[in-house]
Amino acid sequence: LDNGLALTPPMGWLAWERFRCNTDCVNDSYNCISQNLFMQMAELMADEGYLNAGYDMISLDDCWLAHERDQQGRLQPDPNRFPSGIPALANFVHSKGLKFGIYEDLGTKTCAGYPGVLNHLETDANTFAEWGVDYIKLDGCYSSHEQMDEGYPEFGMHLNNTKRPIVYSCSWPAYQNDPNYTAIIKTCNLWRNFNDIADSWTSVTTIIDHYGDNQDALAPLAGPGHWNDPDMLIIGNFGLSYDQAKTQMAIWSILAAPLIMSVDLRDIRPEFKFILQNHRVIAIDQDPLGIQGRRLKKSGSIEFWLRPVTPVDNDNHSYAVAILNRGDSTPTRVSFTLKELGMTSAKGYWVEDLFEEVVGISLMPSDPLTVSVNPSGVVMLKCSLLK
Ligand code: DGJ
Repeated sequence: LDNGLALTPPMGWLAWERFRCNTDCVNDSYNCISQNLFMQMAELMADEGYLNAGYDMISLDDCWLAHERDQQGRLQPDPNRFPSGIPALANFVHSKGLKFGIYEDLGTKTCAGYPGVLNHLETDANTFAEWGVDYIKLDGCYSSHEQMDEGYPEFGMHLNNTKRPIVYSCSWPAYQNDPNYTAIIKTCNLWRNFNDIADSWTSVTTIIDHYGDNQDALAPLAGPGHWNDPDMLIIGNFGLSYDQAKTQMAIWSILAAPLIMSVDLRDIRPEFKFILQNHRVIAIDQDPLGIQGRRLKKSGSIEFWLRPVTPVDNDNHSYAVAILNRGDSTPTRVSFTLKELGMTSAKGYWVEDLFEEVVGISLMPSDPLTVSVNPSGVVMLKCSLLK
C-alpha cells in the first residue's frame, strides 16, 4: 500500500500468540486481556530497550471488545477490562513513544465472536482514527471471499479518508486459496497468508518450509510499504530452545518479515531478550532495499537462506546468509565458499557473524569458510561488499 508507511517491515508487540482470548480478569487478572496488560507491556517496551531496538508499536488483538456496539452503533471495549476506554489507552501508549495498534475483523464477527466491522466500515474506520489508532490488524473470520475482495479495499479507502496515517495489516490472503495479490499489495501494508503461529518449533518450521517452498510466488510480493507476514515472533515463550529462537529471528529477518513479538515482557529470560534486541539481525530485517530473501539450497539437513542487502555497488549486493541445521543430532560443520552462494565480487566481502561477538574477516569469493551449526540452530552472517 502506497501510503508512505511501513517502508521497512513493521516492528512491535501483539497480544495474541502469548495471551490469546483470556478474558478472565476475576481469576487471572495478571494475564487477562485488559488495559493493565497493555499498559504494563508498553512501559516495558519503552524501559527495557525494545523501543530503542525498533519495536515501536503495541497492539490489541482479539477479545478487547464488548459484545455489543454502543447506542450510536459505535464499537466499544469491554467496560470491565478496559474501564478507561481506548482513547486513554492510546494516549498512554503514545506517551511512552509507541504507536498504538488495534484489532478488528472484516466479517460479521471477530474469530472469537465479538462484533466485526461488516456493514460499519466507515463508522469504524472513523472511530479508530478518532481514538488515535496508528496500526490496524483486520482479520477475516465470518466473511465470504466476495466480502473480503470488496471489503478490504473499502475499509482501506475509509482509513485513507480519515487522513490519519494508519498501517493496514490484512488477513485477507490467509483466508483464500487463490488470493488476488495485485489488489492486496495495493490495499495493505502487510498481510498474513498462512497458518497461525503456535508456541512450538514444529509451528515455526512449518512456516519456514511454507515460505521456502512457495518463495517464487511469495518473495516478489514484498517491498517497501507491502510485506508478507509469516506471523508473530514467539521468542521468549515456552516452545523454542535458545538455538531455535535464534533461528526464528534469523529466518524472519531474511524474509523481510514484520517483527511482531508476542511474549510476556514481564518475565522474559535475558538470553531471549538479547536475541529479540540483536541490532545487527534487526538491521538485516530492516534493510532499506526491502528485498525478501530466499532459500538458496538444501543439502542434507543444511539449508542456506540468502537475502540481498545494502551496501550495493553497481550490480553487486551485499548479502545476509542464514545457514540452518534442520537435523537433530550434533553441531554440524559446514564448509562452503561465497562464490557457491552466488557472491562473485572480485573486491571480496567483509564477513561478520551476527549472533557472535567476534571480529569479522575479509574473504574473496573462492576462499573456503567453515562454520559449525547447532541442531535446529542457525549461523547468520552478513557479507558486505568491500570497496
Ligand atoms: C486469527 C488470526 O490469524 C490470529 O492471529 C488471531 O488474530 C486470531 N484470529 C484471533 O481470533
